[in-house]
Amino acid sequence: MRARSPGCADAFCSPSSALFPGVAIYLAEPRMGRSRRAFLTRLALSKGFRVLDTYSSEVTHVVMEQTSAEVAACWQEQAAAPPLGCPRPALLDISWFTESMAAGQPVPVENRHCLEVAEPRKEPSTPAVLMPAYACQRSTPLVHHNSSLSEALETLAEAAGFEGSEGRLLSFRRSASVLRALPWPVTVLSQLQGLPHFGEHSSNIVQELLERGVCEEVERVRSSERYQTMKLFTQIFGVGVKTADRWYRQGLRTLDELREQPQRLTRQQWAGLQHHHDLCTPVGRLDAKALQQLVEAAVGRALPGATVTLTGGFRRGKLQGHDVDFLITHPEEGREAGLLPSVMCQLQSQGLVLYHQHQRSHLGDPGHLAQQSHTMDAFERSLCILRLLQPSGAAWKAVRVDLVVAPWSQFPFALLGWTGSKLFERELRRFSRKEKGLCLNSHGLFHPEQKTCFHVASEEDIFTHLGLAYLPPEQRNA
Ligand code: UTP
Ligand code: MN
Repeated sequence: MRARSPGCADAFCSPSSALFPGVAIYLAEPRMGRSRRAFLTRLALSKGFRVLDTYSSEVTHVVMEQTSAEVAACWQEQAAAPPLGCPRPALLDISWFTESMAAGQPVPVENRHCLEVAEPRKEPSTPAVLMPAYACQRSTPLVHHNSSLSEALETLAEAAGFEGSEGRLLSFRRSASVLRALPWPVTVLSQLQGLPHFGEHSSNIVQELLERGVCEEVERVRSSERYQTMKLFTQIFGVGVKTADRWYRQGLRTLDELREQPQRLTRQQWAGLQHHHDLCTPVGRLDAKALQQLVEAAVGRALPGATVTLTGGFRRGKLQGHDVDFLITHPEEGREAGLLPSVMCQLQSQGLVLYHQHQRSHLGDPGHLAQQSHTMDAFERSLCILRLLQPSGAAWKAVRVDLVVAPWSQFPFALLGWTGSKLFERELRRFSRKEKGLCLNSHGLFHPEQKTCFHVASEEDIFTHLGLAYLPPEQRNA
């Protein structure tokens, strides 16, 4: 039986067990009535949604029935105010709930679902409180209110990255991220006033989108040969912007042209092209869970007591991903060393490994702790393409999987670093450096001069050391 009584909803649907951990629904009772509320709660739980029985700062979606915007605003005034920096949850009409139940997943919040759009006057006056400048100082849920605007800015960020313009990439990423963190949909340009990271260029893009529904610059980029080819090439496993750009300048445009010139390709890129179709197909949550079982079994046989944690986008509640990221450790420091080759042997003997590349640990290398790069760490890892059997019949598909091994003492830092999002990590490290004078990476938190490291037992400890309010993974979708 999946259906539960509403009274014990919290206990039975923790963030990790829910299918959509980025969404926590609170059904507000005023016009709903007890039995209707109990029925809707059971319905949502049976579909894998998380429903909270009491109103708290964890709630992301408040759903009301037959309620006017004024009544909804009143209700919210009376409910506890969220902590500083945490956006208020969305106040939604029952239509969002019923559409989500019908879809079997949370549908994006649109203007018509919102009970508060009639009353945006309060928001523009308090953005500085609502919206601190660093992404690690604010909650960014997966499902938010400004998808089409943030996607347009993300496209421009991506295109800037293709041209090597790191500065423009960051400013578009940051403004897109601010929109994702806003607890209400932007409908008029004046609502951007006072928001951080909205320069002239980003504001102009938003203005054009609000006024005309499309933005010429974004459309021009999306339809350009350069953008489309760079996107195609950088999607290949093992191909970064530099390689893609070189191929583009050499006149290459298609995957078939690359396949005809295998001498240009690394072993990794060749494997990426071999399985390109599968690797471009998004990996679902159920696939990720199935892979976790396979990896857990192999790790358990290789070293009893070792643990496997699903990280990356799936830990943040994403329903789909481009790969699956696992972090492996063992509670006895040092036992994890040398574990990975035997895990790979286990998987290989089951015929599950289509490609893998082992990178040895650089933890013992002198100076590795000083490494500042935001994606490179010194952990032992295996970058793999695994064969995942599909539940339906004999078919299988290729999936990109990263296996990373961290010593127990560094595990909280590794977990924080590998959970993402990429922008969240970047902002967290920039915050540590600029605001606290500390160096944070996936190995530790350091005083740069004293070379001392903070000892921590959990991600929460790291936030505490940095003087930041703890953000659960579902709120790190910056
Ligand atoms: P991903 O690139 O897998 O992103 O990196 P994602 O958020 O899971 O999204 P998908 O897979 O496209 O759906 C996950 C996290 O791991 C860190 C990244 O910075 C990101 O925060 N990472 C990735 C590293 O620290 N080192 C690496 O070599 C790769
Ligand atoms: Mn990932």
